[in-house]
Amino acid sequence: MTKIIRTALIGLGNVNRNFLKLLEMKAERLRTQYGLAFSVTCVADSSGVAVNPAGFDALQLRQFKEQGGRVQQLPGFVPERTPAAVLTDLPRADCDLVLEASPVNLQTGEPGLGATLAALARGISVVLANKAPLVLAFRELHELAAANQAGLAFSATVCGALPVLNIGRRDLIGAEILALRGIFNSTSNFVLEEMTQGRSYADALSEAQRRGIAETDPSLDVEGWDTANKLVIIANSFLGIHPQLADVTVQGITQIRGEALATALAAGNTIKLLASAQKTPAGYQLTVGPVVLPKTEFLAQCSGWEMGVEIHSDIYGKMYYKIWEREPLPTAAAMLRDAVNLFEAR
Ligand SMILES: NC(=O)c1ccc[n+]([C@@H]2O[C@H](COP(=O)([O-])OP(=O)(O)OC[C@H]3O[C@@H](n4cnc5c(N)ncnc54)[C@H](OP(=O)(O)O)[C@@H]3O)[C@@H](O)[C@H]2O)c1
Repeated sequence: MTKIIRTALIGLGNVNRNFLKLLEMKAERLRTQYGLAFSVTCVADSSGVAVNPAGFDALQLRQFKEQGGRVQQLPGFVPERTPAAVLTDLPRADCDLVLEASPVNLQTGEPGLGATLAALARGISVVLANKAPLVLAFRELHELAAANQAGLAFSATVCGALPVLNIGRRDLIGAEILALRGIFNSTSNFVLEEMTQGRSYADALSEAQRRGIAETDPSLDVEGWDTANKLVIIANSFLGIHPQLADVTVQGITQIRGEALATALAAGNTIKLLASAQKTPAGYQLTVGPVVLPKTEFLAQCSGWEMGVEIHSDIYGKMYYKIWEREPLPTAAAMLRDAVNLFEAR
């Protein structure tokens, strides 16, 4: 028997439109292999929220947004309500799951934080691509999810589809992480690589935006905040500490000039924007900033559209993982993975 997962999509940008594409591509496999079907009963973009208990057609919805449509034009539009307000009032039978992929807002967390709190409070599971709710309220969200038997998953928030959080939480049981370093932001990694080859900063950044990889506000990428958000989520998820953003020393790539990259290259090195969690006798030191690396190092070999992580621990040796992701389809797939993991067992 197929279980129908009534799903709200908060944000209909690059990530959630790719999620809709996956529903088109994978409907048959989801049904036969996992016994699941997703029905999109609620959608939100910057114009507002619309509800359709019978389910929006995934293909039509994606095409509608790709052609510049706005949610306020859809049947079922609910005037002047935030996603949080709609999720609070929606009949519970119309929503089992929220996929949150609205822009990162590090000041208030909104609209993602409110939508996540509203859903979890009613026992509705949440899958996040948006890092802000976790960065601002990691513990509160987990406590609320546990209190209401709701699922909360967010493997897409760190390195797209690279399962860094899954590995850290599931596969490093009992480990003391001695050092973790990574390239967590492919926009800045791509910009640095292109600048090394002589392309302008602005030109490279606009390609990352065109491909849907850059943040809605790309200063989060190039000023290091996106990388720092991911380090905070990792630390809270599996380093056994609970830092906030203010506990991370953050520097971006905006000060790096082509000459510095050329000098590094001539010396057999490369400059990468690295996140680092280094264990010291006083605890973990958390930093984000540009680092000169010898070309032979693993992270130096993560090319423009790649992200990577190396994890050194006391009992699992040294692990090295990387991913190539040039469009956000794999990120959307990570949300699908989280959703299936949450509902297959329920
Ligand atoms: N792109 C990636 O590769 C990637 C990877 C991992 C995680 N993420 C995270 O996923 C999230 C979405 O990224 P994206 O690339 O899809 O961004 P995006 O293309 O800029 O899309 C953002 C979506 O959110 C909607 N939105 C804006 N304000 C809203 C509000 N107040 N209420 C409801 N919806 C609102 C936008 O509406 P309009 O359509 O009206 O503009 C748009 O549909 C971000 O938090 C990002 O950090 C992205």
